[in-house]
Amino acid sequence: MSVKSIKGFADMFPPESDAFLRMESTARTVFSRYGFVELRTPLLERTELFCRSIGEETDVVQKEMYTFPDRKGRSLTLRPEATAGVMRAYIEAALHTKEPVSRLFTTGPMFRYERPQKGRMRQFHQINCECIGSPSPYVDAEIIVMLMHFLNSLSLGELTLKLNSLGCAACRPVYKAALSDFLRNIDAAQLCEDCRRRMDTNPLRVLDCKVPACKALTEKAPSLHEHSCPDCVSHFATVTRLLEQEHISFELDSRLVRGLDYYCRTTFEVVSGGIGAQSSIAGGGRYDGLVRQVGGPDVPGIGFACGMERLALLMPEIGARQADCFMVAVGEKAQDVAFHIIGGLRLAGIHAAMGQGGGFKSQMRQADKSGARLCCILGEDELASGTLVLKNMRDGTQQNVRLDAAQQILRDAFSHIADNYE
Ligand code: HAM
Repeated sequence: MSVKSIKGFADMFPPESDAFLRMESTARTVFSRYGFVELRTPLLERTELFCRSIGEETDVVQKEMYTFPDRKGRSLTLRPEATAGVMRAYIEAALHTKEPVSRLFTTGPMFRYERPQKGRMRQFHQINCECIGSPSPYVDAEIIVMLMHFLNSLSLGELTLKLNSLGCAACRPVYKAALSDFLRNIDAAQLCEDCRRRMDTNPLRVLDCKVPACKALTEKAPSLHEHSCPDCVSHFATVTRLLEQEHISFELDSRLVRGLDYYCRTTFEVVSGGIGAQSSIAGGGRYDGLVRQVGGPDVPGIGFACGMERLALLMPEIGARQADCFMVAVGEKAQDVAFHIIGGLRLAGIHAAMGQGGGFKSQMRQADKSGARLCCILGEDELASGTLVLKNMRDGTQQNVRLDAAQQILRDAFSHIADNYE
């Protein structure tokens, strides 16, 4: 029996791999206009990093991490998200001593042991942005504007931006206490198993549980907004004012809590109606205590990540790049000459292909299928007379051209599309 891939780990062929390339190049173009540079972090980190940043009580740390000892018994974990690794890299490189604000983006695979379904994989990919060093609400708005700029550049159809403020170290504990009081007075037996656990460990997470019974039981729960301190109220008012000014529409969602523990103040998620149950295509927020929590200086930050598999599901399909020019060559000598000509064309930036075996008829069928605009035909007769037949595949016309001039004629014919990186 052949060896199969691991459940939740997929190979990626075109058109998905083409969509990934387009996403990455669009991300680089858009993010660089906002001053972001690319950082690449390792896939493996010490387990402790994720426990300290994402939070011991989160689903990610409790049940979704790929954690194992290395050969010396040290606990390592395949990164379930990028933020923690970026914070570690930021601290290790002491970036706070070199620049007041760091803007870093990263892309690549993440790993979470979740139940695979459409849009949910065990190895999935994120495009992740972190802006570290500024507490300003202008940065919150700028990051959200950038995210929407990026997503809108990919033509993904209708998207909804959900927005919330999670309060800060001053006002959230007061709210947590009020929420815990409320939860103590409901019939806890009716909550799902996860929420019964979260009631004590992480009461805020009960609010965004998707189980209908939990939703109904917490319908009248106190709202975080009623408990926000004046600083949080004014911070959030600036963010929403700027988004309105920039015509970015959003929905306020006071139950948007997010699954990772490091968030404070502005949090957001982008959802799409077009991809089924796993509708969240991007999420993020402010995390002012995080850098300190993982052993660095007390600097604030904000960021987001997009799920690339989910974006790919929404992207319009781009057909594969077709050949410009196709060489039909029959006989070993003719094939050698054709091999040399297409090599030169490729160096000149032209997409050139050559018949793969078979006689004249079979190769002409391959030329038709390739979608090439021009076809070069080279048989023994042409070789003997030092020419080749150049056939226009759109109108069927053909002409004989001298072999030694063929390269130049073809280069001229495609000069408008050639990359010319000779
Ligand atoms: P997250 O909400 O856990 O946030 O993930 C961000 C996005 O990754 C989700 O909206 C979703 O599109 C995608 N995603 C998550 N899990 C899976 C999966 N199993 N399969 C496919 N796609 C998935 C974070 O990871 C934060 N680190 C974002 C952030 C950056 N916050 C601040 N900076």
